[in-house]
Amino acid sequence: MKNNFYITTPIYYPSANPHMGHAYSSIVADFFARFKKIQGYKVFYLTGTDEHGQKIETAAKNNNKNPQEFCDDISKIFKELTKILNLSNNDFIRTTEERHKKSAENIWKILEKKKEIYLSKYSGWYSVSDEAFYSEDEIVEENGKNISKQSGSLVEWVEEESYFFKLSKWEKPLLKFYEDNPKFILPETRKNEVISFVKGGLKDLSISRKSFKWGIPVPTNKDHVMYVWLDALTNYLSALNYPDTKNELYKNFWPADLHIIGKDILRFHAVYWPAFLLAADIKPPKRVYGHGWILSGDKKMSKSKGNILDPLEIIKIYGLDPLRYYLIKEVSFGNDGNISEEKLENCINSDLANNYGNLCQRVISFCEKNMNLQISENIEFNDYDNLELSSFSKNYLNISNFIDNQDINSYISFIVDRLFSANKYFNDQEPWKKKNDKVRLNTIIYTSLELIRKITILLYPIIPQTSLKVMNIFNYTEKEITFDSIKNNNFIKKDIKLTKIGILFKKIEKND
Ligand code: ME8
Ligand code: MG
Repeated sequence: MKNNFYITTPIYYPSANPHMGHAYSSIVADFFARFKKIQGYKVFYLTGTDEHGQKIETAAKNNNKNPQEFCDDISKIFKELTKILNLSNNDFIRTTEERHKKSAENIWKILEKKKEIYLSKYSGWYSVSDEAFYSEDEIVEENGKNISKQSGSLVEWVEEESYFFKLSKWEKPLLKFYEDNPKFILPETRKNEVISFVKGGLKDLSISRKSFKWGIPVPTNKDHVMYVWLDALTNYLSALNYPDTKNELYKNFWPADLHIIGKDILRFHAVYWPAFLLAADIKPPKRVYGHGWILSGDKKMSKSKGNILDPLEIIKIYGLDPLRYYLIKEVSFGNDGNISEEKLENCINSDLANNYGNLCQRVISFCEKNMNLQISENIEFNDYDNLELSSFSKNYLNISNFIDNQDINSYISFIVDRLFSANKYFNDQEPWKKKNDKVRLNTIIYTSLELIRKITILLYPIIPQTSLKVMNIFNYTEKEITFDSIKNNNFIKKDIKLTKIGILFKKIEKND
């Protein structure tokens, strides 16, 4: 069995500072990366910035900077955000790096050698904001302006000499590829969108631009720069030292297991990308997951709409783990989700402070007051204890399937359900009335601690910092957090002295 897992986020345009939408994709990808890691996989998690093209050139001009300086400044902020979000990424790629240019040039040369590219002229619509070509039937006129039906972005008429990729000839092979790999595109609804788009007929794709300079020059014709999407998509290979296909990274991690993207860029990842790769005789990735949008009101949060929630400000007020938990739980994965500070506060109070925080606090303080934080060897599980504990081993396979199908919603429902159940267990067993029955008292506390430990392991991919704090109660380090260990009921050493913890989550007082 292959024990490697390669996961990526989109590489973001450093045309403006990152916002909550970028943070969302990165946090979700981090969730999967961390889960796979505690499952024992060797994980490679990649993120970065997409620095070429007309959009960046224009943004730099508007800021009176040359494009490279402009990218250096903003890419740095995206890189800092990976630390602030506590991402476990192994690399951060920038498309202006030499290693990436080499890789993109190589792809171009292969496509050219295989006669997948020809020179012609493009006349049609182009959106600089989306860096996308649109056909006539994808455009509408609104208030005297031409915009893309799909994205609502402004388009302009472009006529210039351009290289084309023979996308049309890949229509049938792509449809076959989707059929042979029914889970290549998830969620299902997006897969259907893509298939009907491809069935509608593919036209050859313009893959170079001539009217501006900011891009990777076409290796065989320096008057052209490569179309930014062909350049950008190749980043997923560059980070594995492509074109050196003999090196360990490439051998271990290609094809990618999971590209996490927003639904706005599905066509590029689910149509163009596998077509480029099939044409270059490189294996396509195993899965593209197109998640929904973070909305603000009823609109997509985006810098061009000016309706952004700044992740840094939210983290300053509420902390990182509450934000991570909130985004993962409250935005139903795959769908659009509306976020607000009010909903975030409710989530912190109900799930984190009252449910998880309270469980940990109650059990530990009870232990401190009544048992001097010492767990005795004398334990006898009864049916109720066993029932509560075994729910984890019974659902072990389900949980790994949730992850392998990117079903975050079921994963988190399981956790929330177990949290309620563990709190109920502690209430129902009334350890405070069992002080004369030492064995029962010990067993209730031991069981409660085991439940906390198992839940904490499942929470680790979502709220890593807090989970580590809780694992400290048992003197466990990050290395000892393993998914397998939720199956057993004797992980906590029975003669252990527990360590106290402070408040995990502060309840947010509401003054209305
Ligand atoms: O498209 N809700 O970069 P980009 C959820 N450079 N996710 C959002 C979001 C929102 N409101 N706004 C942005 C590009 N995102 C290209 C990608 S990949 C080879 C090249 C996230 O800066 C989401 O993942 O416009 C979306 O697909 C991505 O940021 C777009 O980032
Ligand atoms: Mg965008």
